[in-house]
Amino acid sequence: MTQPLLETAAWKALQAHFAEIEKKHLRELFADDPDRGTRLAAEGAGLFLDYSKNRVTDETITLLLRLAEERGVLARRDAMFSGERINITENRAVLHVALRAPKGSSIAVDGQDVMPDVHAVLDRMAAFAGRVRSGEWLGHTGKRIRNVVNIGIGGSYLGPEMAYRALRSFADPSMVFRFVANIDGAAFHEATQDFDAAETLFVISSKTFTTLETMTNADVARQWTLAALGQDAAVEKHFVAVSTNEAGVKKFGIDVENMFGFWDWVGGRYSMDSAIGLSTMLAIGADGFYDMLAGFHAMDTHFREAPPERNLPLLMGLLTIWYNNFFGAQTLGVMPYAAPLARFPAYLQQLQMESNGKHVDLDGRVVGYQTGPIIWGEPGTDGQHSFYQLIHQGTKLIPCDLIGFCRPMSPSAHQHDLLMANLFAQAEAMAFGKTAVELTQEGSPDFQTPFRVAEGNRPTNLILADALTPHSLGAMVALYEHSVFTQGAIWAIDSFDQWGVELGKVLAVRIIPELDPGSEPQLHHDSSTNAAIRRYRARRG
Ligand code: F6P
Repeated sequence: MTQPLLETAAWKALQAHFAEIEKKHLRELFADDPDRGTRLAAEGAGLFLDYSKNRVTDETITLLLRLAEERGVLARRDAMFSGERINITENRAVLHVALRAPKGSSIAVDGQDVMPDVHAVLDRMAAFAGRVRSGEWLGHTGKRIRNVVNIGIGGSYLGPEMAYRALRSFADPSMVFRFVANIDGAAFHEATQDFDAAETLFVISSKTFTTLETMTNADVARQWTLAALGQDAAVEKHFVAVSTNEAGVKKFGIDVENMFGFWDWVGGRYSMDSAIGLSTMLAIGADGFYDMLAGFHAMDTHFREAPPERNLPLLMGLLTIWYNNFFGAQTLGVMPYAAPLARFPAYLQQLQMESNGKHVDLDGRVVGYQTGPIIWGEPGTDGQHSFYQLIHQGTKLIPCDLIGFCRPMSPSAHQHDLLMANLFAQAEAMAFGKTAVELTQEGSPDFQTPFRVAEGNRPTNLILADALTPHSLGAMVALYEHSVFTQGAIWAIDSFDQWGVELGKVLAVRIIPELDPGSEPQLHHDSSTNAAIRRYRARRG
């Protein structure tokens, strides 16, 4: 049995320390400690983290690191890297780190080295991507593949879509990539309405190959292809699968020659660097994909080897605990100052919220503390003109990660300077705000002053990379993966299962036949669900 978190010595010390820190303003912390802006920073895998604008002192960090030690975070990290079955509720190893380990390394699950299989799949993916990109792989009618549609949902969608958008400037511009996740037929229609089926390849991505949304969309895609190309044989040239379920893939009618596998030790939300990344590789090529894997691996190595006080994911995870559990912050904002990272917050929502949205600990006890925060965000500067007002002057504490890149992501260096000026300004405004005295000195009319006061003391992490590249994207995703891991280890929860999403799936399957227009179902739900179903049946037209 793990010691209950709230009873640990480190937790109690942090509680006592919090009572002091809570009253301190970042203005005071900076005035008392002029070096903190350079000292409270760390670097690893090409990423720079400035955490000085957090409501912490050196003592806070020492105590948080002591908490990590007492909770065995680093021992659990080592257990993960060595292939132990740390996902206890599913009795599985958690080895996404093996997906990006270089050729020649060896990682074993139950005494079996998984690395030869990992690289065999990567080699097959690279060969296939090369054939499609070069035009050697042709569609059923002999036309070149110009369009790729990834059909998948959750972890089989969010990573590929996020990565494609982020790395579009590295992608083959002669090819179009789209992503269909939603079971709403409008999603498929919108993605394919301007496509020629003869030039379109579907990548059916599903770890289980049973997910209702994906299998429904895959069936629709097959009908759409056959309606245009006429013959069953077309499936072979226009459908490939990414899955762990070979039998399911065969049953759907995809030749296992055109299937790219992965393993039960890869969680869905940790799979964008597995074969689930096939669409990414088709877009940016094998070399680009390997570069992304190298970025992931560099952060893995940093997480394993950097001393705790300079360990980026460890520090970020502990800071999340600090706000979540001591300040009572319910959410964490992630604001990438990079338009291509528009889907990064959505990607992190699954990574963080499916991993750490848990209410029992590893011993099955209901936790007596808050676990995973709500993750949300939009790219800067868009968010500044919509919800930042609440961050600056609202009543809620919202710690934010602000992400930026030193080199422009477009030919316009000037625009990039404007973007980054906004990032730096927001971090400054959130930390230091504006006092009534300052406003008066600046000539603010008295009646307006109280409304214009910005309290400040809003914490931020600044994450900077030199450029948005496959490598830095990989490093950044791994940074958040290991931060999520750190949080889960402190809370002693299983960050790698997702039982909570099952119930809704089961209930939906029960309701599907009740919506059949030809049926007269007896409804046995609660009165609200019964009424909603009846209303829908009566009005759907
Ligand atoms: O519904 C949750 C979930 O199981 C996720 O964990 C997963 O990423 C997603 O569904 C898709 O699952 P699959 O890849 O098996 O279709």
